[in-house]
Amino acid sequence: MKVLITGGAGFIGSNIADRLIEIGHSVAIVDNLATGKKENINSKAIFYEYDVREKDLISVFKMVMPDIVIHNAAQLSVRLSVEDPLYDSSVNVVGGLNVFNCSSQCGVKKVIFASSGGTVYGEQVQFPADETHSTNPISPYGVAKLASEKYLNYFNNAYGLKYTALRYANIYGPRQDPLGEAGVVAIFSKKLLTGEIPVVNGDGSQTRDYVFVEDVVAANIKAIESDFIGCVNIGTETETTVNELFNILKSASGKRDINESHGPAKPGEQYRSVLANGLAKKVLGWEPAVSITKGLEMTYKWFKDNSNI
Ligand SMILES: NC(=O)c1ccc[n+]([C@@H]2O[C@H](COP(=O)([O-])OP(=O)(O)OC[C@H]3O[C@@H](n4cnc5c(N)ncnc54)[C@H](O)[C@@H]3O)[C@@H](O)[C@H]2O)c1
Repeated sequence: MKVLITGGAGFIGSNIADRLIEIGHSVAIVDNLATGKKENINSKAIFYEYDVREKDLISVFKMVMPDIVIHNAAQLSVRLSVEDPLYDSSVNVVGGLNVFNCSSQCGVKKVIFASSGGTVYGEQVQFPADETHSTNPISPYGVAKLASEKYLNYFNNAYGLKYTALRYANIYGPRQDPLGEAGVVAIFSKKLLTGEIPVVNGDGSQTRDYVFVEDVVAANIKAIESDFIGCVNIGTETETTVNELFNILKSASGKRDINESHGPAKPGEQYRSVLANGLAKKVLGWEPAVSITKGLEMTYKWFKDNSNI
């Protein structure tokens, strides 16, 4: 199949592209390299250095005529979305809308959208949150993800465009950026490598649901194959505290003498976040396969192999 991946030079998109090419799909990538890197781009992919907000994006779609579109391109910093909500919405709402509109006009069979289960629900009141949890995002980034899901629902109702919105928990793994929703993994890994003391915000008992990027790649492949239309969580149902995460990374690094220090808690930071994955099991036949210990070991090794330290 012909798959167009927006944001395919980024962390998640490039891992998806590599796997799709490995299993025989043809891949085109649209990315403006805002945070993505040229070295992440698979040499067998066709690369269009393009902004998803461009009016002329349709010309790329007409050249590629993709069967499947995986929309990953985004401004991904929650903090930046608070500082500059207009920029966030221009990329994350208008850019997405442009991609969905082009998909609809070019007869795309399915759009897979990288949504965010860590932000669309807002402060969780049920643990783990399933897809029926109320959606009250507390950041412009979360509002934009929710708006994009609603636009996809609109395009489905109005034009029959099929879609699956994958509501990711916190994704970590090789090529990840410190800015992302699981940025703490990259930050701690780099500190451990350089021998600096990592700073934990607050007492470190805040939790997140960490999913290894290979499992996310598998979820995208299941979503391509599935008939499911709608939103589905991609999480592990397991909460990991920042302290636990640091200790696993510390033992992966073998640096037993480095201890963390604690700084002030981040104001407004969500305390707990964890996603139910029953629907993903049912409609996609997906469940996470990589344990947090194994995943963090592989991630630390990647940072070690790809740094000059
Ligand atoms: N990393 C996580 O934990 C996580 C969690 C939930 C959802 N997501 C979503 O998954 C997707 C991929 O995230 P990631 O972690 O790989 O981030 P990333 O920054 O590595 O990838 C995003 C890519 O989009 C590109 N991009 C940004 N603005 C663009 C524009 N205007 N036009 C074209 N390309 C543009 C960037 O250059 C980058 O390559 C994003 O939509 C993000 O919101 C990520």
